[in-house]
Amino acid sequence: MKRIGIIGLGEYFPDKVLTNQDLEKMVDTSDEWITTRTGIKQRRIVKEGQATSDLAIKASKSALKEANISAQDLDLIIVATITPDMQFPSVSCLVQKALGAKKVACFDISAACAGFVYGIAIAQQFLANSFYKNALVVGAEVLSSITDWKDRNTCVLFGDGAGAAVLSEVKRGGILSVYLGSDGSFADLLKVPAGGSRYPATHQTVDNRLHYIKMQGNEVFKFAVKYMTESAQIALNKAGLSCEDVDCFIPHQANLRILLAVAKKLGLAKDKIYLNIEKYGNISSASTATALCEAVKEKRIKRGDIVVLDAFGAGFVWGACVIEW
Ligand code: UT7
Repeated sequence: MKRIGIIGLGEYFPDKVLTNQDLEKMVDTSDEWITTRTGIKQRRIVKEGQATSDLAIKASKSALKEANISAQDLDLIIVATITPDMQFPSVSCLVQKALGAKKVACFDISAACAGFVYGIAIAQQFLANSFYKNALVVGAEVLSSITDWKDRNTCVLFGDGAGAAVLSEVKRGGILSVYLGSDGSFADLLKVPAGGSRYPATHQTVDNRLHYIKMQGNEVFKFAVKYMTESAQIALNKAGLSCEDVDCFIPHQANLRILLAVAKKLGLAKDKIYLNIEKYGNISSASTATALCEAVKEKRIKRGDIVVLDAFGAGFVWGACVIEW
């Protein structure tokens, strides 16, 4: 089987910074509560009129530049998002047009916070088993558009941003294993109830604030720890490796307490975990993508390192991917 690896990464964050102090003026919360319960200090928020594809396009251009290939060389674009610009067409088609990629297949995937890991897994299959040579996988979100800025249980958690990766055949290393899982019986614990075919938008759904994220946080917390731990263990096992072999662990940045609990269960030292939750909060599918991009930029990952991407999100869905850099 062909070896598939990541040959370029990019990220983009909107300029506007929303701090915990700003949130103190909006809801009954405190910097102290947010910091100790989540590890988040600030998050980025789009300006009016800026949509998910705008962020995705900027991150994609950086990734293509780093990969040193042109958009014409792409065969596939996958965008993982739960906040598309509109119901359809897909964000991937908007990215395709902006990049001028002429010969690509395009689709979006809905796998919430595990979207980037799912996207990497799908792209790897296409590249390993077909004539496709280069794929672009993007995790992009404008979570501020589905955040209830009156609900202190959720509004302190989320932010906006995008990360992108170009995948191609590599001579050495690359993706060693992927593992994906799901359990839809927990669908009600984390969702946006309205705006789909079950409850199309009406005055009533808007008045009842049903177009915003609803989450039973402490329940989700427990499952996040369980399934992120299991995912990393299973993916490492499939690659014939153990936790001791891990050089850099890139978890979905949902909550610092979740990430530290997962690392403890895996027996990973704190310096092996890459954390940027403090700066960006939870950006769903963009979280692992941007964390990987920043870890590489900061030289926390070097050639030959064993890197683990690990994510969990609404659905529930979860997954992990082991990469030799
Ligand atoms: O990204 C995909 C998956 N998402 C996650 O993994 C998120 C998982 N969940 C979490 O990260 C945490 O559950 C939260 C950060 C959402 C909440 O932390 P918690 O420690 O589970 O708090 P809690 O929901 O049990 O609430 C504890 C208390 C409550 O007050 P009482 O009932 O004890 O008086 C809340 O009303 O904290 C209160 N509270 C707040 N207080 C100040 C909830 N939100 C806030 C807030 N500021 N923003």
